[in-house]
Amino acid sequence: MTTSTLDASHTNPNDDARALIELFPEGTYVDAEDELVVGGVRLTDIAQRFGTPAYVLDETALIRQATLFREALAARWPNSRVVFASKAFPATAVYRTLAEAGLGADVAGGGELVLALGAGVAPDSIVMHGNAKSVEELQAAVDAGVGLIVIDNFDDIAKLEEIVTGRQDVLIRVLPEVAAETHEALATGKHGSKFGLRRADAEAAITRLRSSERLNLRGLHMHIGSQICEVEPYVAAVRALASYGEFDIYDLGGGLGVRYTYDDAPPSVEAWLDGLIGAARRYLPPHAQLLIEPGRSVVARSGLTLYRVVSVKEGRPTFVAVDGGMGDNLEVSLYGQRFEATVVNRVGGGKAVNLVGKHCESGDRISTGVALREPRVGDVVAVPVTGAYCHTMSNNYNGARRPPVIFVGGGRSRAVVRRETYEDLRRRDLLDPEEGV
Ligand code: LLP
Repeated sequence: MTTSTLDASHTNPNDDARALIELFPEGTYVDAEDELVVGGVRLTDIAQRFGTPAYVLDETALIRQATLFREALAARWPNSRVVFASKAFPATAVYRTLAEAGLGADVAGGGELVLALGAGVAPDSIVMHGNAKSVEELQAAVDAGVGLIVIDNFDDIAKLEEIVTGRQDVLIRVLPEVAAETHEALATGKHGSKFGLRRADAEAAITRLRSSERLNLRGLHMHIGSQICEVEPYVAAVRALASYGEFDIYDLGGGLGVRYTYDDAPPSVEAWLDGLIGAARRYLPPHAQLLIEPGRSVVARSGLTLYRVVSVKEGRPTFVAVDGGMGDNLEVSLYGQRFEATVVNRVGGGKAVNLVGKHCESGDRISTGVALREPRVGDVVAVPVTGAYCHTMSNNYNGARRPPVIFVGGGRSRAVVRRETYEDLRRRDLLDPEEGV
């Protein structure tokens, strides 16, 4: 999975280029004119054609990763399904592409449900989540025929008992009380989490649902967190699930970490599944259906962000400022995530600079101490591994227009989400009090 192409006939300025290229989608290379090529398209050309900042997704790499997940899971546990945690990239083209690759969709709320259904995702392959699902959201899920609704609290049960007229399959999210090493905000399976039911409550919910006429309890769900680079907490969490007795379905969640920087060493998809499914073989009933819900690890490496350098302030440190920042990438300021970067036509090497955004706060950093080779105003800079949660959490800080999403593959490119316009920014503002809300 970590192999990538750097054709020997192409220019390779130095060894740093190779390490950097490995962070980009498989098949990325530097061509004879020192230009970085992703999905068969020069990134310089994408920036020229679609403007910057722009999210670029390598469609082929995305499909390959989805297929890897599906096949690697099926090889280890045939009665299984991969459900894409769509919060990682909720765009119609991504829902559609991943559905075609055989993945279901996990939706957290009404908005993601509308997007998934609109993209043609089969309702019975959808799993609905949320620790605060409104009556409207639950009603929409039931009306659409969503396959599984995950009960997170007793209010979900009360609301669904009112809404469901036929019979609705549900899972119960249990809190496994397992701590995994990740950012505090991304840990969801440990003691004190707002997600899921603790043991006594989960047992009470199981008893209550077993006597329900409308809600059909099919099994249990867990999700212990995100950007987790170890397998052991999953084994402990599966063991915790098993202690509730036997069920038909176990949804083991997502959370597999990805390699953002040279130093990260997350398990491969196969190694993660070896650990997870090994635990399932040991602790769960062999007839059960297993679901997993990866988000980040499906899309992160397929994506990158393109920026244009707007100013270079020489000094110690040198600040290279680009035309985006925390409006399109909140991972840095919210979770302290580190990213690497390169000038797209001078790949590898160079001196360490602080790559910063255009927004009005000092926390608006993209990468501190990142090596860029001779960065100049007008250069296009690519930041790899921005395929997960960056588009999702993009925002309008300082009136930034959210970037477009460009699919590349087979030497072609096309926009699948357009850039916001200034008119979009004004669209919800009501100037006439009579307009109402
Ligand atoms: N299933 C459930 C119920 C989840 O809540 C999540 C992520 C996933 C699956 C997928 O986890 P993944 O495989 O992507 O790690 N806003 C943060 C990410 C929060 C993830 C929340 N839940 C960010 O920008 O990094």
